[in-house]
Amino acid sequence: MRAVLIALVGLSLAAAPACAEQAPTAAAPIVIKFSHVAAPQAHKSRAAEHFKTLAEQYTNGRVRVELYPNSQLYKDKEELEALQLGAVQMLAPSVSKFGPLGIKAFEVFDLPYIFAGYDELAKVTEGEIGRDLLDRLKSKGLIGLAYWNNGFKILSANSPLYGPDDVLGLKMRIQSSKVLEAQMWSIGGMPQVMAFSEAYQALSSGVVDGTENTPANMYTQKMYEVQKHATMTYHGYLGYAVISNAKFWSGLPSDIRASLERAIAETTPVANRFAREENEEALEEMRKAGTTVFHEPTPDERAAWMAAMLPVHDEMASRVGRDLIDRIYAATGHKSPTQ
Ligand code: LMR
Repeated sequence: MRAVLIALVGLSLAAAPACAEQAPTAAAPIVIKFSHVAAPQAHKSRAAEHFKTLAEQYTNGRVRVELYPNSQLYKDKEELEALQLGAVQMLAPSVSKFGPLGIKAFEVFDLPYIFAGYDELAKVTEGEIGRDLLDRLKSKGLIGLAYWNNGFKILSANSPLYGPDDVLGLKMRIQSSKVLEAQMWSIGGMPQVMAFSEAYQALSSGVVDGTENTPANMYTQKMYEVQKHATMTYHGYLGYAVISNAKFWSGLPSDIRASLERAIAETTPVANRFAREENEEALEEMRKAGTTVFHEPTPDERAAWMAAMLPVHDEMASRVGRDLIDRIYAATGHKSPTQ
């Protein structure tokens, strides 16, 4: 919180001369600061740029969207605090990062193997369950506007990972989710919660041994340079909720709000396409780079990963909500891809 406050003071000082020169007039645009932690070339950045173009076009320049990628304004936890305080107006954090805010239900997305693929995922993110979850953000002064995918995660380390026995005792970087913590314990790893912006350095210096992430994040954060092995487990989902400060959003003129909502709705399928393409391209590029050996699990190995991780669903039911888990099972038609 202290870091956020210091940054806020910095921001308001930096903004002061501009305000003095530029007295607010009817023509002054509404500025939306959109902060996030992904690299400037990452699909989240490209989606944010797409949104900016549409938002400025649909509002005829009455809105100006300023993009701040790469944790340049705030790291994971700070950005949520900054949004609540009104220092920025939009974010797209991973849904695995809402637990520390007190909204644990989003960690349902972290349950290993809960979605067998993108079609099943869409039944939740584009349906009633996804909407209900976004509504829960209101209690924290936030408004949930859309889900944007990243993709499905793989495991990486500096030693080969053929099965849970190979993770035993390894320190594994995770996002700030209790479900991810339980999932790492379930395969014998020692979970280490760490901001995204710190992951590369921690892997490179050996503070942690390995991690889980999507191929796109592994590539754009250069983690492949410091991870010799990766296993294509695709055991869990990583995706974003596009959010704003509820007070800011409801205070917008209704025509502006409608234009921004249209821009977001039109950006979502584009963002999801960028993400899928980038995950494929990232794997190709990392294979070409040759610094990481990518292992495709055999059917037996896949079964062993699943057997180790699936008990996390029951273990975490009291945290994320049994009803919510059951609603997702009903929407996808199964408890796990093997059932
Ligand atoms: C992570 O922390 O690994 C991801 O949530 C980062 C991101 O925004 O994709």
